[in-house]
Amino acid sequence: MALKDYLYHKPTILTERLVIRPMSASDADALREWMPDPSVYTYWGKGPGRAEKHPELLFEKEAAPAKSFHLGIAEKRTDKVVGDLWVYRIDHDRMAAAAIRLSKAVQGRGYGTESLSAMTRFCFENTELKRLWAEADVRNTASIRMLEKCGYTREGLIRQGRMVNTWCDYYIYGILNSDSMNPR
Ligand SMILES: CC(C)(COP(=O)(O)OP(=O)(O)OC[C@H]1O[C@@H](n2cnc3c(N)ncnc32)[C@H](O)[C@@H]1OP(=O)(O)O)[C@@H](O)C(=O)NCCC(=O)NCCS
Repeated sequence: MALKDYLYHKPTILTERLVIRPMSASDADALREWMPDPSVYTYWGKGPGRAEKHPELLFEKEAAPAKSFHLGIAEKRTDKVVGDLWVYRIDHDRMAAAAIRLSKAVQGRGYGTESLSAMTRFCFENTELKRLWAEADVRNTASIRMLEKCGYTREGLIRQGRMVNTWCDYYIYGILNSDSMNPR
């Protein structure tokens, strides 16, 4: 498989407790329970946008074919979407950024680590991607710890750089498909 194979058919990834899968309009009610919560965006420098306050808007237009992934994170038990993740900013099919957010109600249960490590493994085993990277505000302990547990290496500190919609000190984390993915 290659990235181009996922232009139209986005993957579904199973973990022990989660299903990482494409979302549809039938997920809007579940998304409405947590996407408008400002606490999810503490380190993004912006509150929830229009689509986050009204998640049904996310499904108004048919998703354009893209090599990037924006997938829901659902609990296997209920199939309810409690978070989402992206693999985006794909550069020459070789490197891409990863980002993730979870409902406050399920944070701290290991879902972040479980889904990001599964997504990272999926990218390295099923696509040409050789490098994934992510940004983490230096104050975002949960994100930093999650990235390190997923095997990402802290590669640098950006001082007062732009991250999402804010200016802050943030770390760049990266992982190569040749790195060990064992949690630290
Ligand atoms: C960042 C985020 C995805 C992490 O997911 P999570 O499921 O809550 O994290 P995990 O349960 O997998 O925990 C990972 C590690 O962080 C620690 N951690 C979790 N929440 C924490 C908190 N609020 N403060 C300090 N440490 C925390 C955990 O204890 C664990 O480390 P440990 O195993 O050494 O104890 C989640 O907190 C989130 O959605 N935050 C809001 C959005 C965001 O900031 N996204 C990241 C930027 S893209």
